[in-house]
Amino acid sequence: MTPLPKIFILCGVLFLLVIPRHGWSQLTKAETEQAAELLAIVLNAGRVVIDRNQPVINDPRKGDKNFTPEVFEQQVVDEFRQQTHIDLRQASSVVPSRTKELLTLLLLASKEVVSDAQFVINQRGIGYKNFIPATFGSQAARRFSKRSKVTIKQTALDPRNLHNTPDAYERKILLQLTAQPTAGPPISEWVDGGTTLRVMTPLYYSEDCLTCHGSPKGILDMSGYPREGAQVGALAGAISIQIPVDHR
Ligand code: HEC
Repeated sequence: MTPLPKIFILCGVLFLLVIPRHGWSQLTKAETEQAAELLAIVLNAGRVVIDRNQPVINDPRKGDKNFTPEVFEQQVVDEFRQQTHIDLRQASSVVPSRTKELLTLLLLASKEVVSDAQFVINQRGIGYKNFIPATFGSQAARRFSKRSKVTIKQTALDPRNLHNTPDAYERKILLQLTAQPTAGPPISEWVDGGTTLRVMTPLYYSEDCLTCHGSPKGILDMSGYPREGAQVGALAGAISIQIPVDHR
């Protein structure tokens, strides 16, 4: 082969390897904000699915619950579609491929948490198994954050789990949200000179949270933590997401 075609081939290979990857990693600010919002919805959809299946997960009479990672995944995909009208499995036609990749990574991390919990979930003779939306959410968020420059965390002002302790920024926003009389939308802000997006999606208590977080305050709930004495509609905490601009 003469040197000239070799150079062409080399250039072609370099183009394929470098240029598309570069273009693919750059989300605009608006796209980054959309990615954060959709990530919070994926994590929350997982929480909702665990909550919905809690009676079967906690059923002491049943061994195999058939709450497999695949069943869980399908329900999360359905829940996500209901909330966003986006099919998570074909999201690349409506969101940038980098966003689709992040959503898929979180879905995978969520599925793995359910997969690892199969032994616990399928135990017969035990009712409460400590596999609840909060423990699921913390684990899925941690697993995802280890594999990505994007960080997801569940947090609250007075957390039960110290891993969920808010940083100064999260504390400020949680106080702000507590002061609001009604449920509000996510709070999204560019910080550190516009290099990091921070999004806080508030979580509010519904009736079924109160078996653990409700009254009487201070009395231990089934998970062994003192109840918070919370009311329906009060702020429970938030899903906190941080996306650095260069988050490849
Ligand atoms: C079965 C008892 C139980 C129920 C029901 C329950 N939680 Fe929790 N919640 C817990 C436990 C236990 C933790 C600590 C989990 C951990 O170790 O990460 C927790 C943690 C949390 C956290 C993370 C901050 C922290 O305290 O560590 C939030 C936010 C939260 N719960 C909100 C809710 C909401 C909203 C609901 C209803 C949709 C709910 N919980 C239902 C027991 C419960």
